[in-house]
Amino acid sequence: MADLTTTFCGITSPNPFWLASAPPTDKEYNVRRAFEAGWGGVVWKTLGDDGPPVVNVNGPRYGAIWGADRRLLGLNNIELITDRPLQVNLDEMTRVKKDYPDRALIASVMVPCEEAAWKEILPRIAETGCDGFELNFGCPHGMAERGMGSAVGQVPEYIEMVTRWCKETTDLPVIVKLTPNVTNILGPAQAAKDGGADAVSLINTINSITSVNLDTMSPEPMIDGKGTHGGYCGPAVKPIALNMVAEIARNPTTHGMPISGIGGVTTWRDAAEFIALGAGNVQVCTAAMTYGFKIVEEMISGLSQWMDEQGHARVEDVVGRAVPNVTDWQYLNLNYVTKARISQDDCIKCGRCYAACEDTSHQAISMSEDRVFEVMDDECVACNLCVNVCPVEDCITMETLAPGALDERTGKTVEADPANWTVHPNNPSATAAE
Ligand SMILES: Cc1cc2nc3c(=O)[nH]c(=O)nc-3n(C[C@H](O)[C@H](O)[C@H](O)COP(=O)(O)O)c2cc1C
Ligand code: SF4
Ligand code: SF4
Repeated sequence: MADLTTTFCGITSPNPFWLASAPPTDKEYNVRRAFEAGWGGVVWKTLGDDGPPVVNVNGPRYGAIWGADRRLLGLNNIELITDRPLQVNLDEMTRVKKDYPDRALIASVMVPCEEAAWKEILPRIAETGCDGFELNFGCPHGMAERGMGSAVGQVPEYIEMVTRWCKETTDLPVIVKLTPNVTNILGPAQAAKDGGADAVSLINTINSITSVNLDTMSPEPMIDGKGTHGGYCGPAVKPIALNMVAEIARNPTTHGMPISGIGGVTTWRDAAEFIALGAGNVQVCTAAMTYGFKIVEEMISGLSQWMDEQGHARVEDVVGRAVPNVTDWQYLNLNYVTKARISQDDCIKCGRCYAACEDTSHQAISMSEDRVFEVMDDECVACNLCVNVCPVEDCITMETLAPGALDERTGKTVEADPANWTVHPNNPSATAAE
């Protein structure tokens, strides 16, 4: 049976599933139950400076978008960091770590961008016995306006500076949590590395307004007739997170840096995808908030079963496996030719593929009077749109044309050798293939 034990930047946990810093890790009561359910680690809800506790709104703090079946796809929040006194959190963390020594307990921290503030708080938190720190440079709302969170995470120089202060102060691993609210994730990731970070975690939430109440003309969640931008997370953000993780994993200068993958992880498969793209473990928030702590059971059993089937003994064996296959557009093989194929046995004759291809793609699907839908190979550019709009899974598939076959659309024979844009005759600066 696969061994799910992971050692992430020196921190060992029985499985790669950590709860992200958020309401699920807000207090001892939650974290104990999370550990009982099987979570490998937690990043405690972000701690702030000692002093008057943070004040949250007293109205709704969440907005959401849903699929047609009311399944939660995206969650937006305007919550701040912990609103409980620092010492209460520290006492609880100490007790929890003592009772669960085999689980990872990470302290998430956000204090003002001043050397003394960081250097004072880290040793105090370390006394809890926590296994490491996560620097929260991510929150896009509330704290950013006070010069913290994403206000730091959007400026690589600040990231490097604060990370260096922390590394000068503690021997524990320092994970830098990155904000996705930047145009290029590589700058902040490189800055974390330059500052001496042991790892990066990403993504924090995406700045967003999820909806507008058209009766009150206010963004939602609405507080007494007004709304504000919040942080977006959940399944909808996974593609953005995967891309950012992959960018860091495949960039020559940040490659090899441990990455904790966060953003929409809901199933073992989501986790496996993050790990394949270079994450050493994953963190989960929205899925736990939607389905409860026990979803980790499916994650553990699913990942373990898949690893057994694939012959992967340890999580490390999967880390980064897909990274060599992430490339830039110009290196994609232009001699790879596919065509859409419709299974008449599975087709329910809804006509979505026809409407999509006829109106917005390449007019490559015919519809007979008795609603039989067929692909015309001489028009099909293999865009895959019909596959994506068809409501029946695997009813439309893409078939690869073998070398030597005729592509009826171009009139050319499919070549066996790959050739990409860098060597294409239409490319004025064609050089050599990758
Ligand atoms: C209500 C809520 C509060 C959060 N609070 C924090 C926080 O205090 N510190 C932090 O680093 N991230 C915080 N996050 C962000 C999560 O840790 C995580 O990065 C984000 O939700 C993406 O993961 P997910 O798609 O699994 O939810 C919060 C998220 C939510 C939904
Ligand atoms: S793959 Fe694209 S072009 Fe081909 S039939 Fe489907 S929608 Fe039309
Ligand atoms: S979208 Fe799928 S089910 Fe609907 S007509 Fe096309 S092939 Fe058939």
